[in-house]
This record gives sequence, structure tokens and C-alpha cells, in this order.
Amino acid sequence: MPRRSEHTETALRRRARRALERQLAYQRGKAARAKGHEQDYVEAMRVRSARVREKLERVRPVASDARVLEVGSGAHGLVFYFGTTRGVGCDPLACDYAALFPAWQHRALTVAAAGERLPFADASFDVVLCDNVVDHAEGPREIARELSRVLAPDGLLYFTVNFHHAVYGFASRLHAAWNAAGLPFEIGPFADHTVHLTLSGARTLFRGLPLRVLSESGDAEGAKRAARRRPPRHAGDRLKRLFFKNALYELVAEREGGRAGAAGSGPAG
Ligand SMILES: C[S@@+](CC[C@H](N)C(=O)[O-])C[C@H]1O[C@@H](n2cnc3c(N)ncnc32)[C@H](O)[C@@H]1O
Repeated sequence: MPRRSEHTETALRRRARRALERQLAYQRGKAARAKGHEQDYVEAMRVRSARVREKLERVRPVASDARVLEVGSGAHGLVFYFGTTRGVGCDPLACDYAALFPAWQHRALTVAAAGERLPFADASFDVVLCDNVVDHAEGPREIARELSRVLAPDGLLYFTVNFHHAVYGFASRLHAAWNAAGLPFEIGPFADHTVHLTLSGARTLFRGLPLRVLSESGDAEGAKRAARRRPPRHAGDRLKRLFFKNALYELVAEREGGRAGAAGSGPAG
């Protein structure tokens, strides 16, 4: 009989595996639809990457040969059009994405690995990106620790995750419990994610890590406004009007231990 902690760990691992299976099925469908429209995807990726790069360059310039790692680079990550010759994308599904989206995946070196155990040396990247990933993974906190570990001193981190009203965390745990009990009934948004974080849950991922927060935002009001504007398609949309869902937590931080820290630059916002 597995001990309680082992049992919980196995259930979590199973959820993470299921989330990956669903992600792959979704991206296969998307790849089929993208055929002949690749340029539209490329354009959207360029815009998103430029927006993030601009945010980071408000802190300091990012060289065209900067060592940039994206953890959870996915099908359409930021790294592919980030504008560096030394981009690396890391994702457990990297081999599948390379086959499904050959038009741009070759623009970075892609590595099939989990963010909880990055196959890179300490301090080996100048910029680390992780955009909408950790709530799909088995170990969000372990990923946060790895993001910080592989950043060079003064290196820049760009991180996002969706956060939600606490009611969805409760519902997600309930969903996990009935799946663990063998009930095969799946609700898409809960099966696609391992956790549903609140804003404070997202912020505490980085607690105790050697990072200086440079800017941080969590726009729950924007998510509430969007839910009120959109005509509800189903009961879930009505619920979102009461309890917000999919608000964006966005963090820009800098790795401690370099000259910027020695010069005394503190948090900016
Ligand atoms: C919602 S997608 C986001 C992908 C990409 N960052 C983007 O914004 O287009 C989540 C990604 O996280 C990846 N993922 C799941 N578990 C992971 C893990 N343990 N480590 C790293 N990436 C993981 C999935 O394969 C998927 O590509």
C-alpha cells in the first residue's frame, strides 16, 4: 500500500500526464487547422515576443546573442521570435511540437525536458521566460526554483500564470479527488491544469528564491470586466461573472548576486 504522501504524489503525476495528453491532442488539431495559414501564427508570435522583449529592455538591453531559455516553450512560445541567435526552448512535448510546427520550431534549439528538472547548469542563461506553464505541470514550485537556478546573476526572468478566484482551486481539488477515486468524468479546464492558483498562490511560488522583483501585476479586474462583456455561452461563463477566472499574473524579476544588486538597485514597483 502506498503511504498517503506517495499516493498523493502519484495522483498529481497522473494529472500532469493527463494534462500533457490533452495539450498534445489540442495542438494536433491546431496544427491541422494552421496548414496554409502559418504566416498568421508567425505574425501573432512576433507581436507577443516583441511586447515581452520590450518589457525586459525597460530594465536593460538584451543582446542579439543573449542566452535565452523558455521553459514550457510549447507550440508557439516566445523564444521562437525573441530575436536571439542563442534561444533554447524546453518542453516535455518539444519533439511533438517540432514535428507539428516545423515552420518556426527550428528557430530555437528545442529540448524535451520537464521544467522541474532542467538539464542546464546553474547560471547558464541571461534571460529566462516561462509563460502560462506552471499550472499545467506537476511541480509549479519546483519549476520556479529551477527558473531561478539557471538564471545568471542579474539575469532577467519573465513569468506569467493565470490566477483565479479561490472557488476554482476548491473545484479543481474536488475534480482531482473524484478522478483519483476512479470516476472517469472529466471537466476540460480542470483536466487541462494540475492546479488553479489564486493571486497569492502565484506570488508565493517565488518566495525565498534569490530574485529581485522589478515589476509585478495581477489583473483580476480585467478578467471580471471581460467576463461581463462576453455573452455567456454556458453555465461556466455565468459563473465567471460571479467568480473571476483566468486573470493574468505577470512578473519581471532579476537574479540576485550580480553587479546590479551590489550597486543597490531595489524592487521597482
Ligand atoms: C498553455 S501551454 C503554453 C505554451 C507557451 N508557453 C505559450 O504560451 O504558447 C503550456 C505548456 O506547458 C508545457 N508543460 C507541461 N508540463 C510542463 C513541465 N513540467 N515543464 C515544462 N513545460 C511543461 C506543455 O507541454 C505546454 O506546451
